[in-house]
This record gives sequence, C-alpha cells and structure tokens, in this order.
Amino acid sequence: MKVIILAGGGGTRLFPLSRKCMPKQFLAIDQDKTLLAETIERFKNLVKPEDIVIVTNQEYIHHVKSELALCGASEAHIVVETEPRNTAPAIALAAQYCLDELGCAKDEVMFISTSDHIIRPVVVFQNAVTKAAEFASKGNFVTFGVKPTKPETGFGYIEAGEDLHGAYKTSAFKEKPDLETAKAYLAKGNYYWNSGLFAFRVDVYQNEIRQYAPAIHKELKANYRETAANFSNMPNISIDYAVAEKSKLGVTIPLNLYWNDVGSWDAIYDVLDKDDFGNALQGDCLPIDCSNSLMLGQSRLIAGIGLDNIMVVETSDVILVAQKGESQKVKDLVDILKARG
Ligand code: GDD
Ligand code: MG
Repeated sequence: MKVIILAGGGGTRLFPLSRKCMPKQFLAIDQDKTLLAETIERFKNLVKPEDIVIVTNQEYIHHVKSELALCGASEAHIVVETEPRNTAPAIALAAQYCLDELGCAKDEVMFISTSDHIIRPVVVFQNAVTKAAEFASKGNFVTFGVKPTKPETGFGYIEAGEDLHGAYKTSAFKEKPDLETAKAYLAKGNYYWNSGLFAFRVDVYQNEIRQYAPAIHKELKANYRETAANFSNMPNISIDYAVAEKSKLGVTIPLNLYWNDVGSWDAIYDVLDKDDFGNALQGDCLPIDCSNSLMLGQSRLIAGIGLDNIMVVETSDVILVAQKGESQKVKDLVDILKARG
C-alpha cells in the first residue's frame, strides 16, 4: 500500500491565520505539531516513509520538506504540481508516479489522505485503514463515513446501503448538498459525512477517471514526467465530483473516532480546551465575565469584557471579530478582500 497525502490545498477559511502562503495543513492547531506532521505520523507503523507520497503545489515544497524532516520521514516522496488543479488530477498524477517512478503494480492500493484534519485515536484510525486496504484490494472505491451531527453543507454525504459487516455498500454520494438536502439526509439516518479519505487500487482509479472524467483522462500523458509537465492543462475538479458521485464501486467504512476537519473557526473552538466558562483561549488573553468565546492572539494582548459567543482572532496585521456560528462567512470576507486587491 502507498499512502498519498494531499497537501496542496490553499484553504482560506481560517483567515486571518491561514493565508494562501500558509494554508491550514501547515498550521499547528491544538498541538505543537502542524496538521501535516500529525497526518504523516498517523501512518507510522503502518507503512515505511518511502511508501508515502505527498502531493503538493510548488509554492509549498519547502514547508513539506521541513515537516518531513521533523517527522523523521525525509525518505517520503514529493510530487509537485505546477499549478493547483484540485484533488482528482492530483490523485491521477500520484497514480502515475506510483506506477512509473516507484515501480508499483497496477493493483497496488493507494490510501488517499487529507493533510489538514484532526483524527484520533491513531489505533482506531489505523484499524480502519487496514480494513479499507482489504476492501480496496478487491476492486472497491472505498470512502470513510463520519456520523453527521448537523446539516453541514461543506461536506460530501454518503448513503449507506447493503451491510457488508464493518462496511456498507455506498448507495449514493452527494458532494456539498444545499442546506435543505443536507437536512433531509440528516433526518434519514443512513447518511454519513464523507471524511475526505479514500482507498482504491491504482488501476481502479485510472479506470474510473477514463469512464467518468474524460477531461482529466485526455490530459494524462504516456508517463508521469510528461503528465507532470502538462499538469496546468488539467481541469480543476475534486475527486468527489469527478469520481465519487459517479462510481458504482463504492464501499464505505464508518469511522468510529474523533474527526474534525478544522475547516472553520467554529470547528477550531470545538477542538480547543476550554476554561470553566467555556472560553477557548490561546496566546495572551484577559477575559472578564466572558463565556463560550474564542480568543486567539498571536502578537498582542486580547482583553475582553462581557463577551458571550464571540470569536476574536488576532494576527500582526488583522483582527477578526465574529459571532460564533457565523464562521463559514469568513470565506465571503476573503473573497471581498481578494476583489479589493
Ligand atoms: N495536492 C493537492 N492539490 N492537494 C489539494 C488540492 C490540490 O489542488 N486541493 C485540495 N487539496 C488537499 C487539501 O489540502 C486537503 O488536505 C484535501 O486535499 C481536501 O481538499 P479540500 O479543499 O480541503 O476539500 P473540502 O474540504 O472542500 O472537501 C473534501 O473534504 C471534506 C471533508 O473535510 C471533500 O472530500 C468532501 O466530500 C469532504 O466532506
Ligand atoms: Mg477540507
């Protein structure tokens, strides 16, 4: 099995802490390690460093190299994209890398991992990976389901079908539904959130791409090096839309563990330790009569009086103040700032 870690996303939902030059995978959230380092270490004892392939954008190579060195995994491979084209082309490139540069067989299993999530405990995760590898080696397109707790519209949804003992046949996969659809899925009870992790054989992925994503298939060249050189001609599309929604080979393994995509300040609040009043405090903070609030300071004192359900994130050049529950709108804020130039 090869572990493919996708570390090329440029997420901005944690603005002002994460920026294009420093996306979430390179931030340490609730530990002194970055999310990427935590991800690499999650595969320790499962595969050797040389069985790990990190796919990233050329802008982030130095971050990736230093995280690998810190984890004692410098033998891991780095596949570099000339431009970000989202996850489906990134995985297609990694598949060719495995075949052409690592000499893998066509039926080698690739375990695809995000690089920016908190997943614990490691042993439960590793058991799920082992189980997934078995299903994947039989030709399935394996996803991992997380029990949904709210009608989140930022995730994919998996409908669990036939019980396969410890896994389910995937009846349907819907990427990022609208709120009404997400509410309906939640009410049905047999839907999971897609965790963003996948497992399948190299040949299975290549066949799915040929069948369901001809625009990607067209840009795949005879070998890894040629495809890498041609990468900027790839369409921009995620594996969720390109393959997962269409595949008929889906099997879903439920993840019975703590999973947090830390994709918003609300998700960060959830994961951080709280004081007796429900405040999550990081950096130099002075709360008086504050409750259920997040204060995260980098360079200055944050002093708050009488705050409830408020989030304050301070960096050297920006102070974000937001109502708790509204942090999905940070994306809109970033769009406005981008338009302003
Ligand atoms: N190499 C590379 N290149 N990596 C990428 C690229 C890219 O162009 N784009 C994203 N990634 C990486 C991100 O760094 C992250 O680790 C992972 O791929 C997933 O990408 P996101 O951009 O974070 O996806 P998402 O959060 O919108 O949606 C996915 O994850 C959800 C769970 O958090 C989907 O799989 C959803 O269905 C899922 O629910
Ligand atoms: Mg994400």
